[in-house]
Amino acid sequence: MPIMFNDETKTFHLQAGDSSYIFQIYRDGYLAHLYWGQKIRSNHLSRFIPYGRKPQAPTPDDPDETFSLDTLLQEYAAYGNSDFRSPAYQVQLENGSTITDLRYKSHRILKGKRVLEGLPGTYVERDEEAESLEIVLWDELCGLEVVLTYTVFEKYNAISREVKLINKGTEKLKVLRALSANVDFYNSDYDFIHLSGAWGRERHLERRSLKSGIQAIESRRGASSHQQNPFAALVSKNADEEHGEVFAFSLVYSGNFIAQAEVDQFKTTRFSMGINPFDFSWLLEPSQTFQTPEIIMVYSNHGLGEMSRTFHKLYRNNLCRGKYKLQARPILINNWEATYFDFTAEKLEDIATVASELGLELFVLDDGWFGKRNSDDSSLGDWYLNREKLPAGLDDLAERINKLGLKFGLWFEPEMISENSDLYRAHPDWCIYVPDRRRTKSRHQLVLDLTNAKVRDYIVDAVCKVLGSAPISYVKWDMNRNITEAGSAYLPAERQRETAHRYILGLYDIMNRITAAFPDILFESCSGGGGRFDPGILYYMPQTWTSDDTDAVERLFIQYGTSMVYPAITMGAHVSAVPNHQVDRVTRLDMRGHVAMAGNLGYELDLTKFTPEEVEAVKKQVAEYKEIRELVQFGDFYRLRSPFEGNDTAWMFVSEDKREAVVFYYRIMAKPNPPLTSILRLRGLDENRDYEVMGSGMVYGGDELIYAGIAVPTLKGDYASVYWRLRAK
Ligand code: DGJ
Repeated sequence: MPIMFNDETKTFHLQAGDSSYIFQIYRDGYLAHLYWGQKIRSNHLSRFIPYGRKPQAPTPDDPDETFSLDTLLQEYAAYGNSDFRSPAYQVQLENGSTITDLRYKSHRILKGKRVLEGLPGTYVERDEEAESLEIVLWDELCGLEVVLTYTVFEKYNAISREVKLINKGTEKLKVLRALSANVDFYNSDYDFIHLSGAWGRERHLERRSLKSGIQAIESRRGASSHQQNPFAALVSKNADEEHGEVFAFSLVYSGNFIAQAEVDQFKTTRFSMGINPFDFSWLLEPSQTFQTPEIIMVYSNHGLGEMSRTFHKLYRNNLCRGKYKLQARPILINNWEATYFDFTAEKLEDIATVASELGLELFVLDDGWFGKRNSDDSSLGDWYLNREKLPAGLDDLAERINKLGLKFGLWFEPEMISENSDLYRAHPDWCIYVPDRRRTKSRHQLVLDLTNAKVRDYIVDAVCKVLGSAPISYVKWDMNRNITEAGSAYLPAERQRETAHRYILGLYDIMNRITAAFPDILFESCSGGGGRFDPGILYYMPQTWTSDDTDAVERLFIQYGTSMVYPAITMGAHVSAVPNHQVDRVTRLDMRGHVAMAGNLGYELDLTKFTPEEVEAVKKQVAEYKEIRELVQFGDFYRLRSPFEGNDTAWMFVSEDKREAVVFYYRIMAKPNPPLTSILRLRGLDENRDYEVMGSGMVYGGDELIYAGIAVPTLKGDYASVYWRLRAK
């Protein structure tokens, strides 16, 4: 039984994989947190609840001076009743007051896992895979009911949490803050890890030690963002890839979020995460419910490597959905960096002809095929074919490409509207805006108001019409700007601050409808590269364009950081031309290939310009990737060397049965007088097996490769790389 309740001690013990999570109904119905960590059999942990008078700590049950909420570790903390730390939620009553006091009312333990209404989330296929605990808390005075749900995955060290706020009273309530979870820790001896960056430089790994006060990451951009990913972890000081404790949090949400760690006066740490309360509120009429997004909490006692492998498996198997979830993904050629907006059907067909000779499998027509779109300043919203560019029609082009042996894919940016579009001329009030204020443009475009059902229906109809008009096997769903002037003409004054969250709910609605209507299409999400690479979107679209930056060196950092949470199969990784279009760097074709082969491989350049040598080299890359594709896309991932720590990077993939592995090694700059031998120690292999290094005739023991390592050959010049395939004898 992964969830146990001890009626005598009123303690809940959740066992997820090798971890335990324990809390207790304490005194008059407070939920006191007791433990999260390595699995333990039983517990007598209530002895940890801090007794004893603390000066300055208010005592709600006067005259008992030993009890204060300010010193209690809690499960879903309230504001205003003696706990001065950041609360998990806050609700305003009609009289303007913001004090509520939730107490335990009831609980039940259920098999399986509930599907959230209108929101993405992890799921199970069989009830036996998980067990859920629902705890009902209750504020008697205003009738607010809060249901905390914990789901325990039996196989993984992972627990999901989500919260429902229900107005069971008679007055209107205003939710000012409703985070998905808070977890309190007894101390603050942790480092805070997160993934930060910018356009073209997404998800760089950052680590800092916790200090007194609040340290936070957040997005206020209406999207999870390039700048901060909805992931954070508290790790023990000694935590590295293989050692140390990791407490990781990943929010299944694509909009404004906050993740914060607050170290208080007693050096306890409160970690909280959820929808960003900044510029947010939600009106809850009697009998209405507010549902928070789900948060996934992963525990690892073996460092960051194990944390990542837990996320990878959980997200591959229990978050991504649809036909392609467990299918090897096609190797694509995308025309964006080859032609930008300037293409003809003939040019596209020429690229596709070479692609077919190289063994590529899918041709993707990017931006510029619709309306009057010859640059980025028009036509978003006008989802009908540009006949000047493609006079014989989309179906004709798709069929020609199909005849070359490639599937056909198409780009959309459904959430956007150009001022210069038929759609905007007809519906200038369909965008996000605030009356009488400037409408700030970004990339010359505005954002459609997805809180409005009519707008959503328009998008679904327009996109579905195109998808039904030609043999389209793949869609790239782009989104190239963040939300400004967040307001909706469609919502009443008292609901204006719901705009950003309602936008995301609207987005999930249209993604759900379109992907359900076309179950055979493979969807890849994109947001100016990786501006919305999050678990929320992965629920609808099982792969994401990782970054617009395709430079092989930059990609080492981006893919390394991204791999903290997201599996390689979800990471679009393309080989592009040199000098690189983002950073102007010239790297070797080999290294560009080896970096992209560690993700979901594609090409994005004018293949017709390849020299005969390049054609041969890419043919080889493609053939080799096909041999290792399953291993990369479904294998266990081990990081060996970090680009954030030195001049070289290495990582490897190991099959589940440990019979096969592929190891990639990259060195950025050549150095004079390098060490005589560079030894790379491998991970994840079976110590008791022997492995053949394919193509070399050499056989080594798994233990030898793990403890003694493999020698990196002498590499010449900058941007050098090498990879080995290992097969068990
Ligand atoms: C941004 C994307 O990230 C690119 O790959 C490309 O699709 C452009 N948008 C097209 O406008």
